[in-house]
Amino acid sequence: MIQHRRDNPCFLEYQTFIDALLEDELPEEQMHDDCVGYLIGGLQTVGILTSWALYFLAISPDCQEKLYLNVIEAVGQGDVEDMNHEDLRYVGQVIKETLRLSVLSTYISRYHDDDFELAGHVLKAGTTTVHAIGVVMEDPVLWPDPSKFDPE
Ligand code: HEM
Repeated sequence: MIQHRRDNPCFLEYQTFIDALLEDELPEEQMHDDCVGYLIGGLQTVGILTSWALYFLAISPDCQEKLYLNVIEAVGQGDVEDMNHEDLRYVGQVIKETLRLSVLSTYISRYHDDDFELAGHVLKAGTTTVHAIGVVMEDPVLWPDPSKFDPE
């Protein structure tokens, strides 16, 4: 595909992801790795997020109505085009609340180059820490009713 786009730069009217990589004249191997990384990182995550959002909206008719009104106010009946994303405030809240409640990303991790201190514990350079963001996103100290879908 990369070679095909290189040989046919005007094949499509619009720019594809590979065209953007070609502009940067990256080594072939890095372009390949970027394509695989973005496919894996971007495809399933967005698909699962969308499925969960539809589920939460299906069981929350009030939220569904607010979402609908927000889209109609911001976009009208026309096509979605470049717009001020602040106008889609409730849409953003629905996405964020879906990310929280579906716990799409349960953890992230970091490798530490230097010694550091965390809550009174000294961790040595070379340590990997795992951040349980899934736990934080359901912590009742932070969320009064953690299992309730509440975009507001
Ligand atoms: C709802 C959708 C998504 C979720 C929940 C998600 C989640 C995450 C998480 C948790 C990380 C690790 C962040 C960290 O360690 O600080 C990450 C990294 C990454 N994501 Fe996503 N992601 C999503 C969509 C996408 C999309 C659409 C793309 C690309 C088209 C993408 C590409 C990447 C890449 C390249 C990284 C690595 C970044 C780096 O290491 O510098 N993600 N994502």
